[in-house]
Amino acid sequence: MRIVLVGPPGAGKGTQAAFLAKNLSIPHISTGDLFRANISQGTELGKQAKAYMDAGNLVPDEVTIGMAKDRMAKPDAENGFLLDGFPRNVSQAEALDVALKADDVKLDAVLDLEVPEDEVVKRIAGRRICRKDSSHVFHVTYSQPKRDGVCDVCGGELYQREDDSEDTVRKRLEVYHTQTEPIIDYYRTQGLVVTISALGKVDEVTKRAMEALKGDK
Ligand code: AP5
Ligand code: ZN
Repeated sequence: MRIVLVGPPGAGKGTQAAFLAKNLSIPHISTGDLFRANISQGTELGKQAKAYMDAGNLVPDEVTIGMAKDRMAKPDAENGFLLDGFPRNVSQAEALDVALKADDVKLDAVLDLEVPEDEVVKRIAGRRICRKDSSHVFHVTYSQPKRDGVCDVCGGELYQREDDSEDTVRKRLEVYHTQTEPIIDYYRTQGLVVTISALGKVDEVTKRAMEALKGDK
């Protein structure tokens, strides 16, 4: 399956993507994780992205679209993928459509995670991620690591993301409403949008998402 996951910052996209990708045997492709990996490796791309991310703005399309397409061209994504954080504006959605058409394939669904803003703020405020791999995500109350400050998966140090400060979160939410939400209407006209509530326990949300995706097929 080819799925796009959409939802506000802190909705639980990364958390759900890890389980959904495993259940569906498709790779989880997160542009946020790709940028963070580039930043920690000190690449040119990481240097270009960092200032935008720290300010809560979108990284320019010229950088983002090429990076996402390169990742989607890898062999493990040949038969499907779960995109998390891409596309994030209408021009990225259009670029994705062009790339999919060139390969003669289509999206199966756009899974829209709905969460009220006060819950998003609580989820982001308590989030801790792993220095070694930013897809290893925890929460100080909702999803505690076994050892304080240590990643259960790889033993890496847990820390709070630079862009999880209160001001930057406010900016990211504004960017979500103005630039990303319009892609939901864009995909609605293609009949692809499946909306679910992302409230409740992580496994309950995964179950809801799997059922919604099955119903969609
Ligand atoms: P990105 O990394 O994509 O961030 P985001 O979209 O803001 O999403 P988050 O990672 O904040 O949240 P999430 O929904 O994945 O939630 P999570 O699962 O962690 O992007 C970061 C930046 O990169 C952007 O601002 C931009 O600058 C740049 N960028 C990325 N893609 C781009 C693109 N395409 N174009 C341009 N720029 C781009 O969960 C949050 C917390 O809640 C965790 O602590 C988790 O443990 C907890 N939690 C999850 N589910 C539950 C639950 N059910 N109950 C209780 N707690 C839960
Ligand atoms: Zn880790």
